[in-house]
Amino acid sequence: MPWGRIAGYFRPYAFLLAGVIGSIVLGSLLGLVQPLLIRGIIDRAIPQRNMVLLSELTGLIVTTALASAAVGVLQGYLNARIGQGVMFDLRNEMYRHLVRMPLQFFTNTKTGEIMSRVNNDVNSLQMVVSDTVANSLRNVISVVITVATMFALNWQLALLSLVILPLFIVPTRRVGRMNYNLRKRSQEKLADLSALMQETLGVSGILLVKTFNKEPSEVERFEAKNRELMEAQMRQSLVGRWFFMMLTTISTAGPAIIYWYGGRLVMGDAMTLGTVVAFTAYLGQLYGPVSALANIHVNVMGSAALFSRLFEYLDKPVEIEDRPGAVDVGRVRGQIQFENVYFRYRPGGEWVLRGIDLTIEPGQLVALVGPSGAGKTTLSYLIPRLYDPEVGRVTLDGHDLRDVTLSSLHGQIGVVTQETFLFHASLRDNLLYAKPDATEEEMEAAAKAAYIHDMIQGLPDGYDTLVGERGYKLSGGEKQRIALARVILKNPRILILDEATSALDSHSERYIQAALQPLFQGRTSIVIAHRLSTILRADQIVVIDGGRVVEKGTHRELLARGGLYARLYAEQFADQEAGQPVDGESALERDLNVAGGGQG
Ligand SMILES: Nc1ncnc2c1ncn2[C@@H]1O[C@H](COP(=O)(O)OP(=O)(O)OP(=O)(O)O)[C@@H](O)[C@H]1O
Ligand SMILES: [Mg+2]
Repeated sequence: MPWGRIAGYFRPYAFLLAGVIGSIVLGSLLGLVQPLLIRGIIDRAIPQRNMVLLSELTGLIVTTALASAAVGVLQGYLNARIGQGVMFDLRNEMYRHLVRMPLQFFTNTKTGEIMSRVNNDVNSLQMVVSDTVANSLRNVISVVITVATMFALNWQLALLSLVILPLFIVPTRRVGRMNYNLRKRSQEKLADLSALMQETLGVSGILLVKTFNKEPSEVERFEAKNRELMEAQMRQSLVGRWFFMMLTTISTAGPAIIYWYGGRLVMGDAMTLGTVVAFTAYLGQLYGPVSALANIHVNVMGSAALFSRLFEYLDKPVEIEDRPGAVDVGRVRGQIQFENVYFRYRPGGEWVLRGIDLTIEPGQLVALVGPSGAGKTTLSYLIPRLYDPEVGRVTLDGHDLRDVTLSSLHGQIGVVTQETFLFHASLRDNLLYAKPDATEEEMEAAAKAAYIHDMIQGLPDGYDTLVGERGYKLSGGEKQRIALARVILKNPRILILDEATSALDSHSERYIQAALQPLFQGRTSIVIAHRLSTILRADQIVVIDGGRVVEKGTHRELLARGGLYARLYAEQFADQEAGQPVDGESALERDLNVAGGGQG
């Protein structure tokens, strides 16, 4: 168990912990006074028929009760501060670590599972932690103080009451281990359930569920997982119940022994009745903390299980990070080179890229084409260093990508993925994500360049329109243009564009093509091309097949070769209507004017 590491999370709160200890000591001392006051009432005030003393003593009982309640409130506050503080730090640390994790981690892990660790595990920990820490301290202190007082009152009676204590301690190890395992199990089930909900209750998931008529079977799947969770949690809450039953029995039997032995001493005038009553009161105060202390092991093991689940994530290597001494690339010219690059997703698995050698000159437009699964997207991912090659290297202006800082690299690259992702925020926020300090004019200019400004202006809330589940639903083509506007606003030196495969109607298609044209100018562009217009415009077409570069050249050269490109062209591109944006501007302009004028 990494106890030291767990303790490290409490170190920043040492000052508050000291406050907790102080309030606990105070509370225990107040608890000690009460039985003594009762003894005074029985042994002195009542036999002496002293009304003044009786009122004083009962008054003191009330006062100490109030004081200890106040101390209790203070302690509760401090506990919550510490517990919440530790959770706050843990959640931050988890998120900070998770956003740095490599793409690989996210492709291999269910989102719901990740969220469950950050939410459910940390929250469950909060309950255990703030209770466990404070309670153990309180109990240790009150046991020590109470036992000392009992010995001071009568050492024979004290010994007699302590004889049975070991019975409390022995079985706890076993129960603790059981709790550790059950806790881990129930958190796993909770994560399963979150993952299932996250998958099926998202827009894409629910679409699949509904269109494949899977509602009943998904409900069944959910119920089965939910039942597993319930069973795991039942077992966990029942763990060691028999053990605590035994403790309760012992704690009621204890005072009986004291009454029997103490009663005899009172009969023989060897002890006052008040002392016996005070003693049983102390004993009552003792059993609670002792059984709780026995219980602490059980709880501590439970929270250790949660910590170890969190540490599992925190210890996952970030893999792709700045190496010491990494340099800022500055503003790049945009020359990209692949030198004998081999890459695979799993160590020991099949190579996805094999011996890629490729030079892309500054300002070039390179079209990547090839059959599905050839490795085009993978190749493009190596440029923003979402993955590192296993063999060979990728360079930017001659720098190995592993020698430059990630933030300076990402500052130079703009990526438009095949599937457009927009945050559930306003259109303005989504656009400004690329450049938070952009002016309104810059933002609108970008939207105009992407031929989306007029459409946005036409919305009731304009740029403040919310996108997504609770907002405005954009069409596929509109989303693509927002994504283009976003990258235009970023104005990167290098553009990576995975053209969407889904065909748009010729109208939106033309808008997109028109938006693309200025985008390619003055920067290095690598486009996974599905548009004939893009391919025709490319300075270099790179044909990928089975992870290899099989052909390189211009459209004309490659067609003349009669190889894979010529075949792909015949199958995929030849029937596309091409050329408008390149040399038929007028048709487009006519279109745009009809669409509402005022663009640009
Ligand atoms: N995260 C991943 N983990 C493991 N294998 C992957 C992963 N992503 C892709 N692959 C595999 O790597 C190969 C290349 O995939 P890639 O996405 O690069 O193809 P592509 O050329 O972009 O195809 P498409 O034209 O269909 O988009 C495929 O065989 C794919 O199954
Ligand atoms: Mg792809």
